[in-house]
Amino acid sequence: MEIENLEFSSSNEDLKANPENQNISENSPILKKATNNKGYVISVISGKGGVGKTSISTSLAWVIAKKFGLKTLLIDANITSSHVSSFLRIPTIYTLNDILEENTIDFSRIQTYDNVLHVITSRIIGKSYYLDVESMKNIVDRLRESYDVIVLDSSPGIGNETLASIEASDTCLIVTTPYFPSIVDVIRIKEVLEQLREKRARLIVNMIEKKIYELSINEIKYATGMPIIGVIPFDENMIEASARGNLIARYRPGSRFAKSIEKIAYQIISERFGIDYEENIFKRILRFFYSR
Ligand SMILES: Nc1ncnc2c1ncn2[C@@H]1O[C@H](COP(=O)(O)OP(=O)(O)OP(=O)(O)O)[C@@H](O)[C@H]1O
Ligand SMILES: [Mg+2]
Repeated sequence: MEIENLEFSSSNEDLKANPENQNISENSPILKKATNNKGYVISVISGKGGVGKTSISTSLAWVIAKKFGLKTLLIDANITSSHVSSFLRIPTIYTLNDILEENTIDFSRIQTYDNVLHVITSRIIGKSYYLDVESMKNIVDRLRESYDVIVLDSSPGIGNETLASIEASDTCLIVTTPYFPSIVDVIRIKEVLEQLREKRARLIVNMIEKKIYELSINEIKYATGMPIIGVIPFDENMIEASARGNLIARYRPGSRFAKSIEKIAYQIISERFGIDYEENIFKRILRFFYSR
Protein backbone atom coordinates (compact mmCIF):
# COMPACT_ATOMS: atom_id res chain seq x y z
CA MET A 1 0.00 0.00 0.00
CA GLU A 2 2.47 2.59 -1.21
CA ILE A 3 1.33 6.21 -0.91
CA GLU A 4 3.57 7.53 -3.60
CA ASN A 5 1.98 10.88 -4.26
CA LEU A 6 1.73 11.93 -0.69
CA GLU A 7 2.24 15.65 -0.16
CA PHE A 8 4.46 16.41 2.77
CA SER A 9 4.15 19.75 4.47
CA SER A 10 7.45 21.42 3.94
CA SER A 11 7.97 24.67 5.76
CA ASN A 12 7.74 25.83 9.31
CA GLU A 13 4.78 27.89 8.31
CA ASP A 14 3.03 24.68 7.31
CA LEU A 15 3.49 23.41 10.81
CA LYS A 16 0.30 25.04 11.98
CA ALA A 17 -1.57 23.32 9.20
CA ASN A 18 0.13 20.01 9.82
CA PRO A 19 -2.59 17.50 10.65
CA GLU A 20 -0.36 16.20 13.45
CA ASN A 21 -0.88 19.29 15.50
CA GLN A 22 -4.61 19.05 15.32
CA ASN A 23 -4.44 15.70 17.04
CA ILE A 24 -2.54 17.00 19.98
CA SER A 25 -4.49 17.81 23.05
CA GLU A 26 -3.52 18.30 26.63
CA ASN A 27 -6.22 15.86 27.58
CA SER A 28 -5.63 12.38 26.32
CA PRO A 29 -8.66 10.48 25.12
CA ILE A 30 -9.47 7.61 27.43
CA LEU A 31 -7.98 4.65 25.64
CA LYS A 32 -8.79 1.29 27.15
CA LYS A 33 -6.16 -1.23 28.02
CA ALA A 34 -6.60 -4.27 25.81
CA THR A 35 -5.12 -6.71 28.30
CA ASN A 36 -5.06 -7.29 32.03
CA ASN A 37 -1.31 -7.69 32.06
CA LYS A 38 0.91 -5.00 33.50
CA GLY A 39 2.44 -2.92 30.75
CA TYR A 40 5.29 -4.48 28.82
CA VAL A 41 8.24 -2.11 28.62
CA ILE A 42 10.57 -2.09 25.62
CA SER A 43 13.68 0.09 25.64
CA VAL A 44 15.34 1.03 22.37
CA ILE A 45 19.05 1.55 22.99
CA SER A 46 22.35 1.63 21.07
CA GLY A 47 26.07 1.67 21.65
CA LYS A 48 26.64 4.31 19.03
CA GLY A 49 24.63 7.48 18.39
CA GLY A 50 22.62 8.26 15.25
CA VAL A 51 21.91 4.64 14.32
CA GLY A 52 18.11 4.99 14.21
CA LYS A 53 16.69 4.58 17.74
CA THR A 54 14.21 7.44 17.49
CA SER A 55 13.23 6.50 13.93
CA ILE A 56 12.49 2.97 15.11
CA SER A 57 10.90 3.69 18.49
CA THR A 58 8.45 6.29 17.17
CA SER A 59 7.19 4.06 14.35
CA LEU A 60 7.22 0.93 16.50
CA ALA A 61 5.10 2.56 19.21
CA TRP A 62 2.62 3.93 16.66
CA VAL A 63 2.28 0.57 14.89
CA ILE A 64 1.64 -1.20 18.21
CA ALA A 65 -1.01 1.38 19.12
CA LYS A 66 -2.68 1.82 15.75
CA LYS A 67 -2.48 -1.58 14.14
CA PHE A 68 -2.44 -3.86 17.15
CA GLY A 69 -4.91 -1.82 19.17
CA LEU A 70 -2.84 -1.91 22.34
CA LYS A 71 -2.83 1.03 24.70
CA THR A 72 0.68 2.31 24.10
CA LEU A 73 2.87 5.02 25.55
CA LEU A 74 6.05 6.35 23.98
CA ILE A 75 8.49 8.07 26.34
CA ASP A 76 11.39 10.22 25.20
CA ALA A 77 13.95 8.88 27.66
CA ASN A 78 16.76 10.67 25.87
CA ILE A 79 16.49 13.66 28.10
CA THR A 80 19.82 15.27 27.15
CA SER A 81 19.25 15.19 23.39
CA SER A 82 15.56 14.55 22.91
CA HIS A 83 14.14 14.11 19.41
CA VAL A 84 10.73 12.45 19.76
CA SER A 85 8.81 15.72 19.57
CA SER A 86 10.59 16.74 16.37
CA PHE A 87 10.12 13.32 14.76
CA LEU A 88 6.37 13.50 15.50
CA ARG A 89 6.30 17.26 14.99
CA ILE A 90 4.44 17.80 18.23
CA PRO A 91 4.90 20.43 20.92
CA THR A 92 6.44 19.47 24.25
CA ILE A 93 3.40 20.07 26.43
CA TYR A 94 3.94 17.49 29.17
CA THR A 95 7.46 16.20 29.51
CA LEU A 96 9.52 13.71 31.44
CA ASN A 97 11.24 16.78 32.89
CA ASP A 98 7.87 17.94 34.30
CA ILE A 99 7.30 14.55 35.89
CA LEU A 100 10.75 14.61 37.49
CA GLU A 101 10.29 18.20 38.67
CA GLU A 102 6.80 17.69 40.06
CA ASN A 103 7.58 14.23 41.37
CA THR A 104 4.16 13.02 40.30
CA ILE A 105 2.42 11.88 37.11
CA ASP A 106 -0.57 13.86 35.91
CA PHE A 107 -2.24 11.44 33.49
CA SER A 108 -4.65 14.08 32.23
CA ARG A 109 -1.74 16.03 30.73
CA ILE A 110 -0.22 13.19 28.73
CA GLN A 111 -0.32 14.10 25.03
CA THR A 112 -1.84 12.01 22.28
CA TYR A 113 -0.57 11.55 18.75
CA ASP A 114 -3.01 10.52 16.00
CA ASN A 115 -5.62 9.80 18.69
CA VAL A 116 -4.04 6.46 19.52
CA LEU A 117 -0.51 6.87 20.78
CA HIS A 118 0.20 8.50 24.11
CA VAL A 119 3.49 10.36 24.27
CA ILE A 120 5.61 11.80 27.06
CA THR A 121 8.18 14.02 25.38
CA SER A 122 11.32 15.57 26.84
CA ARG A 123 12.16 19.24 26.81
CA ILE A 124 14.26 20.31 23.87
CA ILE A 125 15.91 23.15 25.73
CA GLY A 126 16.02 24.26 29.32
CA LYS A 127 17.32 22.83 32.53
CA SER A 128 18.85 19.43 32.06
CA TYR A 129 18.33 16.61 34.50
CA TYR A 130 20.29 13.77 35.88
CA LEU A 131 17.97 10.90 35.09
CA ASP A 132 18.78 8.39 37.78
CA VAL A 133 17.93 4.71 37.56
CA GLU A 134 15.65 4.67 40.58
CA SER A 135 13.46 7.64 39.53
CA MET A 136 13.01 6.30 36.01
CA LYS A 137 12.13 2.85 37.28
CA ASN A 138 9.55 4.30 39.69
CA ILE A 139 7.96 6.45 36.98
CA VAL A 140 7.77 3.58 34.49
CA ASP A 141 6.45 1.15 37.09
CA ARG A 142 3.65 3.57 37.88
CA LEU A 143 2.84 3.97 34.17
CA ARG A 144 2.80 0.18 33.61
CA GLU A 145 -0.48 0.00 35.50
CA SER A 146 -2.21 2.07 32.81
CA TYR A 147 -0.66 0.84 29.55
CA ASP A 148 -0.34 -2.41 27.63
CA VAL A 149 2.99 -1.41 26.12
CA ILE A 150 5.53 1.31 26.89
CA VAL A 151 8.34 2.13 24.45
CA LEU A 152 11.38 4.04 25.73
CA ASP A 153 13.48 5.95 23.21
CA SER A 154 16.85 6.04 24.95
CA SER A 155 20.11 7.88 24.57
CA PRO A 156 23.18 6.27 22.99
CA GLY A 157 26.08 4.71 24.89
CA ILE A 158 26.13 3.51 28.46
CA GLY A 159 25.50 6.70 30.43
CA ASN A 160 23.01 7.01 33.26
CA GLU A 161 20.07 7.68 30.93
CA THR A 162 20.63 4.45 29.05
CA LEU A 163 21.10 2.52 32.28
CA ALA A 164 17.86 4.00 33.59
CA SER A 165 15.98 2.86 30.46
CA ILE A 166 17.44 -0.62 30.59
CA GLU A 167 16.65 -1.03 34.26
CA ALA A 168 13.07 0.22 33.80
CA SER A 169 12.35 -2.12 30.87
CA ASP A 170 11.45 -5.77 30.40
CA THR A 171 13.31 -6.16 27.14
CA CYS A 172 15.85 -4.15 25.15
CA LEU A 173 16.16 -3.65 21.44
CA ILE A 174 19.73 -2.70 20.57
CA VAL A 175 19.94 -0.79 17.32
CA THR A 176 23.07 -1.03 15.21
CA THR A 177 24.15 -0.29 11.68
CA PRO A 178 26.03 -2.99 9.75
CA TYR A 179 29.36 -1.18 10.09
CA PHE A 180 32.35 -2.15 12.14
CA PRO A 181 32.36 0.79 14.66
CA SER A 182 28.70 0.31 15.47
CA ILE A 183 29.18 -3.45 15.98
CA VAL A 184 32.19 -2.79 18.23
CA ASP A 185 29.94 -0.56 20.36
CA VAL A 186 27.34 -3.33 20.60
CA ILE A 187 30.02 -5.71 21.86
CA ARG A 188 31.17 -3.05 24.32
CA ILE A 189 27.72 -2.48 25.83
CA LYS A 190 27.03 -6.20 25.89
CA GLU A 191 30.23 -6.78 27.88
CA VAL A 192 29.55 -3.93 30.28
CA LEU A 193 25.84 -4.35 30.82
CA GLU A 194 25.22 -7.71 32.38
CA GLN A 195 21.48 -6.99 32.67
CA LEU A 196 21.13 -7.17 28.90
CA ARG A 197 21.16 -10.95 29.04
CA GLU A 198 18.40 -11.06 31.66
CA LYS A 199 16.36 -8.62 29.60
CA ARG A 200 16.63 -10.83 26.50
CA ALA A 201 18.20 -8.01 24.53
CA ARG A 202 18.05 -8.43 20.79
CA LEU A 203 19.56 -6.57 17.89
CA ILE A 204 17.93 -4.55 15.15
CA VAL A 205 20.30 -4.05 12.24
CA ASN A 206 19.35 -0.79 10.58
CA MET A 207 20.30 1.00 7.35
CA ILE A 208 21.34 -2.10 5.44
CA GLU A 209 22.39 -1.32 1.88
CA LYS A 210 24.19 -4.58 1.10
CA LYS A 211 27.37 -2.73 0.26
CA ILE A 212 30.58 -4.64 0.02
CA TYR A 213 31.99 -2.93 3.12
CA GLU A 214 29.03 -3.83 5.34
CA LEU A 215 29.16 -6.73 7.74
CA SER A 216 26.71 -9.47 6.81
CA ILE A 217 23.93 -10.57 9.16
CA ASN A 218 25.82 -13.80 9.89
CA GLU A 219 28.99 -11.89 10.68
CA ILE A 220 27.04 -9.57 13.00
CA LYS A 221 25.44 -12.55 14.76
CA TYR A 222 28.80 -14.24 15.14
CA ALA A 223 30.66 -11.11 16.29
CA THR A 224 28.07 -10.03 18.84
CA GLY A 225 26.73 -13.44 19.87
CA MET A 226 23.30 -11.82 20.02
CA PRO A 227 19.98 -12.77 18.44
CA ILE A 228 18.64 -10.48 15.75
CA ILE A 229 14.97 -9.54 15.91
CA GLY A 230 14.84 -7.43 12.78
CA VAL A 231 16.68 -6.01 9.82
CA ILE A 232 15.79 -2.67 8.27
CA PRO A 233 17.05 -1.52 4.89
CA PHE A 234 18.42 1.92 4.25
CA ASP A 235 15.34 3.81 3.07
CA GLU A 236 15.44 7.36 1.81
CA ASN A 237 11.78 7.76 2.82
CA MET A 238 13.03 7.68 6.40
CA ILE A 239 15.35 10.63 5.92
CA GLU A 240 12.59 12.62 4.26
CA ALA A 241 10.03 11.69 6.91
CA SER A 242 12.29 12.64 9.82
CA ALA A 243 13.28 15.90 8.15
CA ARG A 244 9.65 16.83 7.66
CA GLY A 245 8.34 15.51 10.96
CA ASN A 246 6.01 13.01 9.33
CA LEU A 247 6.00 9.63 10.98
CA ILE A 248 7.12 7.15 8.33
CA ALA A 249 4.94 4.23 9.48
CA ARG A 250 1.90 6.48 9.20
CA TYR A 251 2.64 8.44 6.06
CA ARG A 252 4.65 5.87 4.11
CA PRO A 253 3.09 2.60 5.29
CA GLY A 254 4.26 0.80 2.16
CA SER A 255 7.89 1.84 2.58
CA ARG A 256 10.49 -0.80 3.30
CA PHE A 257 11.24 0.87 6.61
CA ALA A 258 7.59 0.76 7.72
CA LYS A 259 7.18 -2.86 6.63
CA SER A 260 10.25 -3.91 8.60
CA ILE A 261 8.92 -2.15 11.70
CA GLU A 262 5.59 -3.98 11.35
CA LYS A 263 7.40 -7.31 11.29
CA ILE A 264 9.36 -6.44 14.42
CA ALA A 265 6.21 -5.23 16.19
CA TYR A 266 4.37 -8.40 15.23
CA GLN A 267 7.15 -10.56 16.62
CA ILE A 268 7.32 -8.72 19.95
CA ILE A 269 3.58 -8.50 20.44
CA SER A 270 2.75 -12.07 19.48
CA GLU A 271 5.53 -13.40 21.70
CA ARG A 272 4.35 -11.27 24.61
CA PHE A 273 0.58 -11.58 24.23
CA GLY A 274 0.42 -15.12 22.83
CA ILE A 275 -1.32 -17.02 20.08
CA ASP A 276 -4.87 -15.95 20.99
CA TYR A 277 -3.80 -12.40 20.77
CA GLU A 278 -2.07 -13.12 17.49
CA GLU A 279 -5.43 -14.11 15.97
CA ASN A 280 -6.95 -10.90 17.22
CA ILE A 281 -4.06 -8.97 15.81
CA PHE A 282 -4.53 -10.58 12.45
CA LYS A 283 -8.17 -9.50 12.40
CA ARG A 284 -7.23 -6.01 13.50
CA ILE A 285 -4.60 -5.71 10.80
CA LEU A 286 -7.10 -6.81 8.18
CA ARG A 287 -9.63 -4.35 9.53
CA PHE A 288 -7.02 -1.60 9.49
CA PHE A 289 -6.11 -2.19 5.85
CA TYR A 290 -9.65 -2.61 4.59
CA SER A 291 -10.99 0.40 6.45
CA ARG A 292 -8.58 2.77 4.69
N1 LIG B 1 16.73 2.81 7.71
C1 LIG B 1 17.08 4.07 7.52
N2 LIG B 1 17.33 4.52 6.27
C2 LIG B 1 17.72 5.79 6.03
N3 LIG B 1 17.89 6.70 7.01
C3 LIG B 1 17.66 6.32 8.27
C4 LIG B 1 17.24 5.00 8.60
N4 LIG B 1 17.10 4.93 9.95
C5 LIG B 1 17.38 6.16 10.42
N5 LIG B 1 17.72 6.99 9.45
C6 LIG B 1 18.12 8.41 9.54
O1 LIG B 1 19.26 8.49 10.36
C7 LIG B 1 19.23 9.68 11.14
C8 LIG B 1 19.45 9.34 12.60
O2 LIG B 1 18.34 8.59 13.05
P1 LIG B 1 17.79 8.70 14.54
O3 LIG B 1 17.70 10.11 14.97
O4 LIG B 1 16.59 7.86 14.61
O5 LIG B 1 19.02 8.02 15.32
P2 LIG B 1 19.19 7.90 16.90
O6 LIG B 1 19.88 6.61 17.16
O7 LIG B 1 17.91 8.11 17.58
O8 LIG B 1 20.17 9.12 17.20
P3 LIG B 1 20.63 9.66 18.67
O9 LIG B 1 21.69 8.70 19.12
O10 LIG B 1 21.15 11.02 18.39
O11 LIG B 1 19.43 9.65 19.55
C9 LIG B 1 17.89 10.36 10.85
O12 LIG B 1 18.09 11.39 9.94
C10 LIG B 1 17.05 9.27 10.22
O13 LIG B 1 16.17 9.78 9.26
MG1 LIG C 1 17.41 9.53 19.10
